[in-house]
Amino acid sequence: MNVTLFGLGYVGSVTATCLAARGHRVVGVDTDPGKVATVNSGRPTVIEPGLDELVVEAVTCGALRATESVRDGLVDSDLSLVCVGTPSAAHGGTDLRQVERVVGEIGATLAGSVRPHTVVIRSTVPPGTVEDIVVPLLEATSGRTVGGDLQVAMCPEFLREGSSVADFFDPPFLVVGGSPAAAAAVQQLFGFLTCSVHVVQTRSAESVKYASNAFHALKVSFANELSRLYRLLDVDSREVMEVFVQDRQLNISPAYLRPGFAFGGSCLPKDVRSLLHLARMNSVDLPVLQGTLASNEMLVREVADRVLHAVEDDGGTNRRVALLGLSFKHLTDDLRESPNVALAEILIGKGIEVSVHDPVVNMAHLSGANLRYVQDRLPHLQKVLHDDPADALRGAHVAIVSSADPAVVAAVEAADPPVVIDLNGRLGDGFEALAGYRGVGW
Ligand SMILES: NC(=O)c1ccc[n+]([C@@H]2O[C@H](COP(=O)([O-])OP(=O)(O)OC[C@H]3O[C@@H](n4cnc5c(N)ncnc54)[C@H](O)[C@@H]3O)[C@@H](O)[C@H]2O)c1
Repeated sequence: MNVTLFGLGYVGSVTATCLAARGHRVVGVDTDPGKVATVNSGRPTVIEPGLDELVVEAVTCGALRATESVRDGLVDSDLSLVCVGTPSAAHGGTDLRQVERVVGEIGATLAGSVRPHTVVIRSTVPPGTVEDIVVPLLEATSGRTVGGDLQVAMCPEFLREGSSVADFFDPPFLVVGGSPAAAAAVQQLFGFLTCSVHVVQTRSAESVKYASNAFHALKVSFANELSRLYRLLDVDSREVMEVFVQDRQLNISPAYLRPGFAFGGSCLPKDVRSLLHLARMNSVDLPVLQGTLASNEMLVREVADRVLHAVEDDGGTNRRVALLGLSFKHLTDDLRESPNVALAEILIGKGIEVSVHDPVVNMAHLSGANLRYVQDRLPHLQKVLHDDPADALRGAHVAIVSSADPAVVAAVEAADPPVVIDLNGRLGDGFEALAGYRGVGW
């Protein structure tokens, strides 16, 4: 393809060079004359292992050149790849001025042309940027409509500095947001990659990049927080984490990474509290771990608020709410520290008539700490616990569903209450088709 790449910085210079090395004809555009001259003289604009040789080769054989002129860069171009910077603005927001300027210039240059063209945003931009800023700006400056022969895609970059050439050729995946035509153009561009390809909504493509970097930051802080505490307890955190990462079933795996409701049960809250207590005893702050408990409680309060708003928005006369699933996890009757119990407690305290069904929980079978826990928090549970989910749902304005039990799903579909809040997202398409369906975090 004839590719115009905007921004010859860390991402752009590696991308331009590697695309040229794979047979594309690439013109790099940068406002910095020094970078343009450097590329044209066959040298990389950044230090990266393996880049020097590739740049010399690409420039020598004519597959790569650079220019300061947008118009020159776009002559004969099939695709624009936007790799300009998106630095932090004041107060932590994203400064999108480089992206806006480039998109505006691309649009102005394409005005009057009927040549098919795809604009691909490779820079990291906040969710909504492409649909709310890039597309309208491109349409306004080009006078063309996005769709048909003018396409826009989001395709985030995942390379790391220091190993960027190797990462470019072996990325974790290719993520593309945009129309099928835009996605096809991006797939043609990266046709030499063997990784999996995920064509998703444009906002999801933008968001995967932030999720990845946030998770990397979280992982580093997690390991370092534990090491700060373990060092004081005479524990070798290197040995601990060496073993920890061997667990590919729960620790380094998709487990616990599905959006849903709060965690609970007899272990997670207790053991995190215990670590935080050890930290306090040793005068160490562990803000990341501390944050997990705060974040968990916040989610329970947020769902309670959504239920209360749903009831009030309806005039507040029907205050009946069905809670389908009470234990902290389905297929168990362990109610200790179940966030569903905490949710019921808050709602009852706000004058909501909560009726409960749980396919597994049976008061007659509860005993010991489990029974005491629920008796302390929901002393009248016996009166509002129904064996049949249809009974719990009768007349309810809101159904809060965490059980994926087929009888529960069927009962909710049949009752079709005005508002259904899905706490775990495992309930299936029929459920999501209900008019009142709301996901807890989607
Ligand atoms: N650096 C990384 O490791 C990395 C990895 C993945 C994603 N990203 C993302 O990629 C984007 C680029 O990052 P970077 O580190 O390469 O940035 P950078 O600052 O190194 O490079 C940006 C380049 O864009 C040029 N530029 C600015 N305005 C321009 C314009 N109007 N026209 C043409 N060129 C222009 C600058 O002169 C500079 O050379 C950012 O959104 C970043 O978040 C970076």
